[in-house]
Amino acid sequence: MSDPQIAENGPQTAGSGTTTATSSQTAALSVRSLVKEFAGAAGTLSILLGVDLDLNRGDAVVVTGPSGSGKSTLLYIIGLLDQATSGDVTVLGQDISTLGEAQAAAFRNEHIGFIFQDHHLLPQCSVLENVLIPLLAGDGVSPADEERAKKLLERVGLADRITHRPAQLSGGERQRVAVCRALINQPELLLADEPTGNLDQATAESVGTLLLDLSCEENVALICVTHSLELAARFPRGLELRAGKLCQLSD
Ligand SMILES: Nc1ncnc2c1ncn2[C@@H]1O[C@H](COP(=O)(O)OP(=O)(O)OP(=O)(O)O)[C@@H](O)[C@H]1O
Ligand SMILES: [Mg+2]
Repeated sequence: MSDPQIAENGPQTAGSGTTTATSSQTAALSVRSLVKEFAGAAGTLSILLGVDLDLNRGDAVVVTGPSGSGKSTLLYIIGLLDQATSGDVTVLGQDISTLGEAQAAAFRNEHIGFIFQDHHLLPQCSVLENVLIPLLAGDGVSPADEERAKKLLERVGLADRITHRPAQLSGGERQRVAVCRALINQPELLLADEPTGNLDQATAESVGTLLLDLSCEENVALICVTHSLELAARFPRGLELRAGKLCQLSD
């Protein structure tokens, strides 16, 4: 990419020290030598071949790469939704390999927001209920939570859709609900998999702005996967998943 915003002045690999935590920065994520293989009838598929990545609270990084290069796989592992074949992942100081299934679910719910590529909304719940779902596993929903959910929905232009069911929304509207759901728990780490994939240009731009503003305002570490060059160009740091490794986004 030629956009100067994307250029990163560090060394060649993503985890080689460009964002090492200083005393004023809190490490949100450390990924070391991450390998992911899928075993299948036709043999073993090696998807991630040694991924390194460091991220501090408040950092925003975009990850691009061809379809099938392993972007969603990487987010799933970092988001505790899948397990690595080998390598180390530390989220907010926690080595995630030491967590049992229930602990991982609780940790994920408390600290990580995930915007799925195909949003995964619950069809039987309203828009507002879908946004509030992550809170149900915790202390329940307070009036302040409901207020925050409504504010988020307002911010993505869905204030007048809160009683709709997902089936009564457009694809882009469903995706915006998924963005709000990922943000309701005020996560420290936000993982967004193609968050603007189904959106028109104006809405995509406003969702991109929401994510970047939030990362900054609420000190959230953000990893955003996208095929959109427009969205990628807005990030201060750009990486590309290529041949199983994370590299600087090329010019
Ligand atoms: N559970 C699985 N079992 C076997 N292979 C898998 C599994 N999940 C993913 N893969 C393979 O791993 C590769 C990477 O998939 P992934 O979904 O991470 O790609 P991606 O970079 O997100 O692609 P896209 O841009 O199309 O979303 C693909 O070739 C896919 O077929
Ligand atoms: Mg994907």
